[in-house]
Amino acid sequence: MQAKKPSESRTIMTDMVLPSETNPLNNLFGGELLARMDRAASIAARRHSRRITVTASVNHVAFNQSVPVGSVLTVEAAVSRAFTTSMEVYIDVWMEDRYNGKRSKANEAIYTFVAVDETGKPTEVPPLEPESALEKERFDAALRRKQLSLVLAGKMKPKEATELRALFME
Ligand SMILES: CC(C)(COP(=O)(O)OP(=O)(O)OC[C@H]1O[C@@H](n2cnc3c(N)ncnc32)[C@H](O)[C@@H]1OP(=O)(O)O)[C@@H](O)C(=O)NCCC(=O)NCCS
Repeated sequence: MQAKKPSESRTIMTDMVLPSETNPLNNLFGGELLARMDRAASIAARRHSRRITVTASVNHVAFNQSVPVGSVLTVEAAVSRAFTTSMEVYIDVWMEDRYNGKRSKANEAIYTFVAVDETGKPTEVPPLEPESALEKERFDAALRRKQLSLVLAGKMKPKEATELRALFME
């Protein structure tokens, strides 16, 4: 299968935060943000694989900054590494200042998607070829994140997680 670049899966979704999507402090609900990120990441995984994709795990979510009602939020997702049937999708969330339009990083997350056929059986995806320094950095770290996710899910024995072990031995 021919390798694809992260830019080929990049998905950008911009939307406003409505009052119905906020908590009593008038900030965006965490669950609403998770849903927006899942949608953008799912489209990115589909663009990379051109297959049906399902969310296998949410590996890392950092709610670093609250997002007030009325904010304009941009969710940007791209495949950061493809394995055999699974893909890591890295999501950056940006908030636009309502007065000067300046963008600041609000959140980030890492999701794993699996490409499946019509019966739900995992199916192969094209490899990913990172281009920029940031894409290469994310690509390199993705294997140990996959191993961590598999260990936490009880799908891999810690002693088999060679990349992860190497991290703690450094
Ligand atoms: C995701 C799913 C297809 C994986 O099925 P499975 O029987 O575990 O399949 P496999 O063991 O062959 O794993 C398939 C791939 O997923 C990866 N994977 C499975 N669980 C994972 C996890 N928790 N974290 C990271 N990767 C995971 C495997 O490493 C494998 O990757 P690779 O082929 O690239 O090496 C299956 O569990 C499923 O359909 N889950 C429900 C998905 C869904 O409904 N999502 C929406 C939730 S609301």
